[in-house]
Amino acid sequence: MVSQRIKDELKAEVLELKNKGITPGLAVIIVGDDPASRVYVNSKKKACAEIGIYSEEYALPAETSEEELLALVEKLNNKDDISGILCQLPLPKHLDEKKVINAISPLKDVDAFHPANVGKIMIGDYDFLPCTPAGVMELIKESGIEVKGKECVVVGRSNIVGKPQAMLLLHENGTVTICHSKTRDLKEACLRADILVAAVGVPELIKGDMIKEGAVVIDVGMNRLENKKLVGDVEFSSASEKAAAITPVPGGVGPMTIAMLMKNTVRAATLNK
Ligand code: GUN
Repeated sequence: MVSQRIKDELKAEVLELKNKGITPGLAVIIVGDDPASRVYVNSKKKACAEIGIYSEEYALPAETSEEELLALVEKLNNKDDISGILCQLPLPKHLDEKKVINAISPLKDVDAFHPANVGKIMIGDYDFLPCTPAGVMELIKESGIEVKGKECVVVGRSNIVGKPQAMLLLHENGTVTICHSKTRDLKEACLRADILVAAVGVPELIKGDMIKEGAVVIDVGMNRLENKKLVGDVEFSSASEKAAAITPVPGGVGPMTIAMLMKNTVRAATLNK
């Protein structure tokens, strides 16, 4: 698996850094008891342990005040053994996500959510790439398909995935279309795609008849159905009949997101020294 290869490479890099007296450290903040967030945070901590990254978890109660959360972020900004800070989203409604993201030092912002880092991505001069879009780019590279000149369609325009995803594809010289809920003819747009990235959060929205024969389909969706089944934004059974390569949910993009977070944390350790 690509994610395993990346983690193995990082493990060797962490060993080298430790020999130079640098130990990467990740602080993970989780507020409240959202079960999906709990699963993600556990996976992130497990990956740190696997690679040799020091990690700390700050599990705060749902009723934590904004002042308390911002004070914690400030403490972590100044904590020498912490190279990266990640505040798991979504936060409970009374907390302003923007304020919290803005409070994280850009040099420790391993999610690459801070406006300073978002701006750097825009101009192609960055320290960190956002984990999920960066993981998607690695998967595309791995599939052997060149992005240059290809029709790339991103379905979804979130700050976390859709927008930065479009930018990374553009940096690789793709011709990029971003679709969203107001797009007039989603099917027509998707059918043009040589590379289709689905990141809308609508279970199985993209069906096989919306996919061009031989396209590369990357499914970023993680939707929990009422029957507890986890499905993506793409209907895998029909889509896999058309696609030359397609990522499954679970198991496709998810592990890549975590591998990229580890990469950013190791990078942060060198930036903060
Ligand atoms: N919630 C869903 N995805 C993410 C992510 O990549 N980072 C953080 N911090 N929260 C998330």
